[in-house]
Amino acid sequence: MMESLLDRPYWVIDILPEQVPKENADLFFAVEKYYLRPPLLKEIRARLTDVLLKLNCYSGFQVCFPDGEAFIRNPAPEQLASWMMEEQKDLRVLLPGEDALITVNHDELYMTVYNPPEALLNRIRLLAAANGLFLRRPEDSGNERRTSMDALEAIITRRSTRNFRPDPVEQEKLDRILQAGRQAPSGGNNQTSHFFVIRNRDVLDRLVSMTEKAFAAMEITEDMYSSMKHAVTASKKGGYVFCYNAPLLIAVANRTGYGNNIADCACAIENMMVAANALDLGSCWINQLRWLNEDPEILAYLRGFGMKEDERVYGAVIIGYPATESGLPNRGLMAMKGNEVTWID
Ligand SMILES: Cc1cc2nc3c(=O)[nH]c(=O)nc-3n(C[C@H](O)[C@H](O)[C@H](O)COP(=O)(O)O)c2cc1C
Repeated sequence: MMESLLDRPYWVIDILPEQVPKENADLFFAVEKYYLRPPLLKEIRARLTDVLLKLNCYSGFQVCFPDGEAFIRNPAPEQLASWMMEEQKDLRVLLPGEDALITVNHDELYMTVYNPPEALLNRIRLLAAANGLFLRRPEDSGNERRTSMDALEAIITRRSTRNFRPDPVEQEKLDRILQAGRQAPSGGNNQTSHFFVIRNRDVLDRLVSMTEKAFAAMEITEDMYSSMKHAVTASKKGGYVFCYNAPLLIAVANRTGYGNNIADCACAIENMMVAANALDLGSCWINQLRWLNEDPEILAYLRGFGMKEDERVYGAVIIGYPATESGLPNRGLMAMKGNEVTWID
């Protein structure tokens, strides 16, 4: 786990707010040398220690040394402080709950944070600021140049994104996502899913107004699914945007009389969401077009784009670049409150 985290995008908690330009390297080295003198270095390590100790109140730690000794789970604050300040050790601090890693080296004036989810970044930024330190992304920090993600990691860290940047998704990435959807399993290998990739803003806006109109005309019933209740209430109020202004939506249709129609669409959509995560894109399942898949106006509109008489939408997914500060999807692990497992050995 630790090795793969070292390939992930990283940030630094540093004494400087920005990368020093190359032409100022001499000035920087003189200042760095000054701060690396023992009493000053110890003072900076104390500030970094303060950030670490306070972070430990929110995230469990597994600490080890780079030479490969075993992990120590949540060492006592006195122990961690001693490694940091008295012994000035190189440390690897794994945050398993966040799938993040912090590294600190004895001859550096900063700590490096690999793969932090958005909430962790925000927390670190506050703690760093309180200690006169800065959280920043170094140039060439891997945030744009990551190669590929391990399949299991892409599955486990997929989380829904509901806030998007307007930037379009590159055709190359979209092709790979669609390939992942089309390669999904289907009952009897029927391959009857039909993918509608909607990037046209006018079409998306039209679907937004048609879904709002359809929901606004519905009455809330007691046994109504809570998300549907929300859609109806919000639509009656006005301004309901079911697809969160994502730059693109893929609606997946299938045959009405086919028993695996929903299951096949679900396999395709999950594959596409996992692929999107692997490509650093955010995604979210969108169900409104399924709930309204018999709405005559929406049905006629989609038929105008080639949906066949016996096809209906059974699911949809929105995809785009997350509107997070890092531009990366939130990848925090989900707390398990259900999804029971019964082992039968
Ligand atoms: C069948 C299905 C339908 C869903 N419908 C919607 C939806 O219409 N709108 C939405 O915002 N999220 C929708 N979601 C996303 C879930 O709310 C989300 O997956 C769940 O809260 C777990 O969070 P995570 O995806 O971040 O792990 C749907 C998910 C599934 C599997």
